[in-house]
Amino acid sequence: MENPILNLSAVSAETVGFCTLETPGPAGFIIFGASGNLARRKLLPSLFNLASRGLLSESYYVTGVGRSPWSDEAFREQVGSAILNEDPTSDRQALQAFLEHCRYVSGHYEDAEFILNLGRVLDVLDHTRGTQGNRVYYFALPPTEYAGITQKISQAGLTAEPAAGTPFRRLVYEKPYGHDWESAVALDHSLHEVIKESQIYRMDHYLGKDTVQNILMFRFANSIFESVWNRRYIDQVQIVVAESLGFENRVGYYDQSGQLRDMFQSHLMQLLALVAMEPPASFQADRVRDEKVKVLRAIRPLNAGGTNTDIVRGQYAPGLLEGQTVPGYLGEVGVPPNSRTETYVGAKLWIDNWRWQGVPFYIRTGKRLARKVSEIIIVFKRVPVSMFFPLEAADLPPTTLRLRIQPEEGIDLTVNTKLPGMKVCLTPLDLKFRYRETFGIKTPCAYERLLLDILVGDQTLFWRHDDVEAAWALLTPVLQQWGAPGNAAPLSTYPAGSWGPAEADGLLEPQHQWRLSGRAE
Ligand code: BG6
Repeated sequence: MENPILNLSAVSAETVGFCTLETPGPAGFIIFGASGNLARRKLLPSLFNLASRGLLSESYYVTGVGRSPWSDEAFREQVGSAILNEDPTSDRQALQAFLEHCRYVSGHYEDAEFILNLGRVLDVLDHTRGTQGNRVYYFALPPTEYAGITQKISQAGLTAEPAAGTPFRRLVYEKPYGHDWESAVALDHSLHEVIKESQIYRMDHYLGKDTVQNILMFRFANSIFESVWNRRYIDQVQIVVAESLGFENRVGYYDQSGQLRDMFQSHLMQLLALVAMEPPASFQADRVRDEKVKVLRAIRPLNAGGTNTDIVRGQYAPGLLEGQTVPGYLGEVGVPPNSRTETYVGAKLWIDNWRWQGVPFYIRTGKRLARKVSEIIIVFKRVPVSMFFPLEAADLPPTTLRLRIQPEEGIDLTVNTKLPGMKVCLTPLDLKFRYRETFGIKTPCAYERLLLDILVGDQTLFWRHDDVEAAWALLTPVLQQWGAPGNAAPLSTYPAGSWGPAEADGLLEPQHQWRLSGRAE
């Protein structure tokens, strides 16, 4: 049998890696909501990049499905402009070749005749494009449409996998997956009536980021970190995903959703799970997801109101961001003047298991914060005693490990070291690694990785139904406490361009402070 491990020198002239190569087989790609923002900005450019780098099988097609009454030609024009908009330097010949694989089917999802017609078009494409009936259906639609359309296409026979996944029919759903525990469970029930869990790919684009996957490589492909990755050596963990952007042009969605549903329940919970999970028995989808769900279930329930709150919500007020005056959330176009939607969430989580007992996990995320940065900061315990008189142990900063998710993707390990000169002269020093400098390439778009994984049938980087339900089980009571009539949980404000509401400082244990790289908070 061919050895799937390649000793590859592809990443840069100097770097040799041990890489496994998986090549997708033939498949058709069907995008529901093909005229929408997600398709234009992420899906179509990512599929094009994969095709033009030879990472797709030669037998493929891309079929856009939507309500816009477009012809194939009009759709191809849209696809071309979307790709060039993302990368004006795209190879024109490769683009032309890609466009030849694109088709469009227009109609209304409620219309049974439309679904039958779609089935007929796909059957013909499966034949003419040689895709052997393998299909990926991508739902780039509002989540309220997931259950209904899945039921309809399944009843029309479009999702049936006749013989144990051959040909395969995979269905991809974007977050938010439900808006609380009950709706997520109801959606799962509805999908499981007509398709199997093995056909379901619940997207979280954070899992497609190289820096996020590297959390597992870093922890479990080195022996030195895992042995100190616990309550004996770690004092606290901080996870921050800050954005200077607002909600962009998605007011309808965002005002209903808020930061807890949009970011915290998905991306932040995934980062936490990867940092805190036990080593899985293998790097195989269900083994990894088993460990993640155990962590989510071990998080202590959150107190969201009254005194000693574990979670703080905030909404941005007008402020100064990157030298510009920006309006507050309530002054943004389309936001109801009395909206109580949170644009910031900060929380202190405790994980009640042997590894993490007593170690606070401070998690925060917000819109219109001072700058875009996503980091995981592991703060180790201070030395127990200082031999460097007159410096006390408390004078020596703790060793910190900073996993930089974005921007400036990389890792910093900050250690105390001797400054040249005087006998007792110490300074914290960053041992730095940067993806861009070391490998000389930009980390690929998260969607490319995830689309490839869908095509090869690897669910490792996708939410499983019990993960989603565990995250909602933790956060639904918070939403209930926030939404309770006359509830005591305040909605704090913070100036746009700051690091969030002052009330979030109250989450910190007295000996702790927020830690971010670069400019001080
Ligand atoms: C999306 C959220 O999932 O992630 C957006 O819906 C957010 O509100 C975006 O802006 C952030 O993604 P990234 O990759 O830019 O950090």
